[in-house]
Amino acid sequence: MKSLIDKLFQKSILQKEEWIFLLSNRNAEIVEYAFEKARELSFQHFGNKVFARGLIEVTNYCKNNCFYCGIRAGNKKATRYRLTKEEILECCRNGNALGFKTFVLQGGEDPYITDERLVEIITAIKEAYPNNALTLSFGEKSYTSYLAYKTAGADRYLLRHETANAEHYSRLHPKNLSNIPRKQCLHDLKKIGFQTGTGFMVGSPFQTVENLAEDLMFIANFKPQMLGIGPFIPHKDTPFAHFPAGSVELTLFLLALSRLLLPNVLLPATTALGTLHPQGREKAVLAGANVVMPNLSPLHVREQYMLYNNKIATGLEAAEGVKKLAECLTAIGYQLVHERGDY
Ligand code: 5AD
Repeated sequence: MKSLIDKLFQKSILQKEEWIFLLSNRNAEIVEYAFEKARELSFQHFGNKVFARGLIEVTNYCKNNCFYCGIRAGNKKATRYRLTKEEILECCRNGNALGFKTFVLQGGEDPYITDERLVEIITAIKEAYPNNALTLSFGEKSYTSYLAYKTAGADRYLLRHETANAEHYSRLHPKNLSNIPRKQCLHDLKKIGFQTGTGFMVGSPFQTVENLAEDLMFIANFKPQMLGIGPFIPHKDTPFAHFPAGSVELTLFLLALSRLLLPNVLLPATTALGTLHPQGREKAVLAGANVVMPNLSPLHVREQYMLYNNKIATGLEAAEGVKKLAECLTAIGYQLVHERGDY
């Protein structure tokens, strides 16, 4: 199995059977070896830097009904909120004062956030902070919408593919959603010139090792500039409330494999990983991750952006806790940097 990790390290490619073999037969020794090789690559490309991005959760209204997600339209127990343009700018002001050079605006697919409103927000942020990078994550939109956001000054866009397998996708989403338009969106984003991020959940219901192999192959082919991988965590008011959470260990292994596959990808230590394990971020960095995304949303809305049970948004996950986070990273030999960290 070590030879497969070596092959991946040298050539950044494996066959489907090889991915499946690695994922199914992994043991502690191989996982540790993958971490070592992943760190070696991160170090070659980024030294010991970990990039900080300030996350602003703009709206938890969503027209979609994804079975796993706590802010799905069908969850009548969710308390809904939407930040105003002024509130968003206030978050940016705070973030800028804390040194953040990237703002990530994320939200559900909220019909109120029309292209016109979003363009106005993008324009205002870019006017106030021309040197900061702006990342968007508002789901599936048309080519013309994406183009309008790019023209207004947005730099990056995150849209997880969730699962590359069409049948698995249909078990995680209602009938009106399919991963064909989603993959089209990803291609549109890249074509328009966004630094584009995709990703998937680990341990989502019905996921097989073969599905994960397909995710890795999709990523190998698409070559995203950013890649979000986190464990599935159940949310109590969703149809998947009683499914078990994904494995931290498998998530970390997938992070390492992703680093080997895409040596210079921007790879976050996700909030979901930090939620399942108190040292999730450090473990992720030691497995090849090089981005953290502390929460810059106003305190009073943080617990409303509840994608899954117990989602953390305070302490080390909060922008106010960034000093403490930097210390944790220093303790393992890494440096939290406030650079744009473009691809
Ligand atoms: N567990 C883990 N991740 C989730 N997401 C949504 N719901 C959950 C959950 N229950 C992830 C999806 C989405 C991102 C914003 O959050 O992958 O793309």
